[in-house]
Amino acid sequence: MVAFRLLAEMNPIISSGKRNMSDSVTFLDVGPLTELPEKKIRKTSVGDLFIAFTRIGSEVFAFQNECPHAGAPLDDGELEGCVITCSLHMWKFNIQTGAVVRGAAGTLKTFPTKIENGNVFIGTPAN
Ligand code: FES
Repeated sequence: MVAFRLLAEMNPIISSGKRNMSDSVTFLDVGPLTELPEKKIRKTSVGDLFIAFTRIGSEVFAFQNECPHAGAPLDDGELEGCVITCSLHMWKFNIQTGAVVRGAAGTLKTFPTKIENGNVFIGTPAN
């Protein structure tokens, strides 16, 4: 029991189920990596956060699913490499850095991700 508790303190994944706390970030389990086809954009939500995520190679990127311009859902957009094009006014954002590639202003919010035991986790601000 002591060994488990120590392990749980060192590895928050062991300590709870679908949601895991780590410092000021809560990691949300969004399912197995094997069920995330490359460059297919999936979406999820946590509270009032709408999140899109995708796999490129062996990396998973997560970003806000609301365009910084006027709020269109970015999971409707087109992904080329690490750049997503919003389907409404064609602004472009780098989903890895959040930088605007084409458009007047704004930054795309990105979220940390990790893969543990074959599952994908997205880090969101803890409440
Ligand atoms: S809402 Fe996305 S570019 Fe305008």
